[in-house]
Amino acid sequence: MAGQETFPPPFKTLFARTELDARIAELGAEITRDYQDKGEDLVLIGVLKGSVIFMADLCRAINLPLSMDFMGIASYGDDTKSSGVVQITSDLSKSIEGKHVLIVEDIIDTGLTAHYLFDNLATRHPASVKLCSLLHKPDRTERAVQIDYLGFSVPNKFVVGYGLDIAQKYRNLDFIGYVEE
Ligand code: IMP
Repeated sequence: MAGQETFPPPFKTLFARTELDARIAELGAEITRDYQDKGEDLVLIGVLKGSVIFMADLCRAINLPLSMDFMGIASYGDDTKSSGVVQITSDLSKSIEGKHVLIVEDIIDTGLTAHYLFDNLATRHPASVKLCSLLHKPDRTERAVQIDYLGFSVPNKFVVGYGLDIAQKYRNLDFIGYVEE
């Protein structure tokens, strides 16, 4: 049809769905072991929107009676660079006081958003806060953050798919790819 773009565009595959599945199964087993005695009090907090696909698979790889909540974050800055000044566009639906919080992120890029989240959540008196991120781009670090559970490190390329977007598109790709320059 005239004007219709090919879908998906010719992204280079970085991680196929099978690789993502295998790594997420390992992360889930590790989290299950570490939170075994805290099960009822474990809350996964997904950061919208990039983490939703990862969150959906990760939560099913964890064998504990956890609960889930989401936080919407808008970052001020241009399309490719976060300024670290963020706005909460949608807040948690329940108190996390006394809970063991595991933040679930799609990617840690500069680290500025994760820093903001750690500071913000700490004011709500959780029992603990840890971070699980599917991806990390170490070359772009501006503020180092401790990633307690990491899927993969990635090169300094703009990655897309499996929740990650370019201008809100391609979150529904079943693999993680990048645009070849
Ligand atoms: P940070 O504050 O620079 O660590 O940026 C975090 C957010 O920027 C992530 O949660 C993503 O939503 C977005 N982001 C950073 N790098 C990429 C990328 O390569 N592809 C898609 N989104 C990205």
